[in-house]
Amino acid sequence: MAHDHQHGGPAHRDHQHGRHEHHQHQHQHQHGGGDAADVAAMAEMLDLDAEVLHSYLSDLTAWIRELTGERPPRRILDLGSGTGAGSFALLERFDGAEVIALDASEPMLRHLEAAARERGLADRIRTVQADLDASRPELEPVDLVWASASLHHMADPDRVLADVLTMLRPGGLMIAVELDAFPRFLPDDLGFGRPGLEERCHAAMAEWRAAQMPHFGADWGPLLAKAGFSVEAERVFTIDLTPPLPDSAGRYAQASLRRMRTGLDGVLDSDDLAALDRLLDDDGGPGSVLRRDDLHVRARRMAWAARRPQTT
Ligand SMILES: C[S@@+](CC[C@H](N)C(=O)[O-])C[C@H]1O[C@@H](n2cnc3c(N)ncnc32)[C@H](O)[C@@H]1O
Repeated sequence: MAHDHQHGGPAHRDHQHGRHEHHQHQHQHQHGGGDAADVAAMAEMLDLDAEVLHSYLSDLTAWIRELTGERPPRRILDLGSGTGAGSFALLERFDGAEVIALDASEPMLRHLEAAARERGLADRIRTVQADLDASRPELEPVDLVWASASLHHMADPDRVLADVLTMLRPGGLMIAVELDAFPRFLPDDLGFGRPGLEERCHAAMAEWRAAQMPHFGADWGPLLAKAGFSVEAERVFTIDLTPPLPDSAGRYAQASLRRMRTGLDGVLDSDDLAALDRLLDDDGGPGSVLRRDDLHVRARRMAWAARRPQTT
């Protein structure tokens, strides 16, 4: 498997430090490295997301198969690939295809490469390390660009989308996938603590997100049109997995809630924090998400399909 490095500018942005430092680690770029434990936790969460939401990913790639009609993609670019959830789902869907997995984070790409070797797919994936905020990577035009949960990280999405247009062949397809909220797992009444804990966690996060990640939850259709794409379709995927769920759902809930927990000291009151800690108990104590049988997985993903016009 080949991998390239394309760094056109400073590898790190200055992050403000403060109450939400962990959230910044959680959601902002981890160019070239980042805290190893944090990257590992993020990678674990992305892998569990792909595993637990496998059937949604399969529906999504089936939709792309329909959109690509008689010309299934051969060259695919996965922008902000993370651990490769999209890369692997697309390779599974499109037999003859090859993927370029591009990410700013070197450790994410190393994780993806190891997974590709394990799956016997190393010869169909090439990794490129590049910070899309800093420069436009020089790549041969591709048939399909996939960007899942990565566009909202960009400092200047208008500029990145304009670049993405030129990375596609004329007539090529761009699929943008985003979320407007993080998944929910818990019943309102946990059997301990005050009802509504998960909603209070999300409310605290939403406040932070509005300030730190202004593009999260954006309507990407008009932004794609403004960049010169012809927007063809938009789909909402609603995920509602109900018990009994596999063990991976408990681990996914734990990984997701744990990442939220790191930013909630001093934000939630001590009763809520104690309840959250009980849910997150690694040893699977009473009430832990690892042994609860009342977890759901509720999530929503939005997908936009947009084409580079033949004439640009
Ligand atoms: C939430 S993860 C999504 C990963 C993957 N697409 C998925 O759906 O599982 C966002 C990814 O975008 C990458 N990313 C963020 N900003 C970036 C930038 N400016 N250039 C390239 N990659 C970036 C991060 O390193 C991270 O791997």
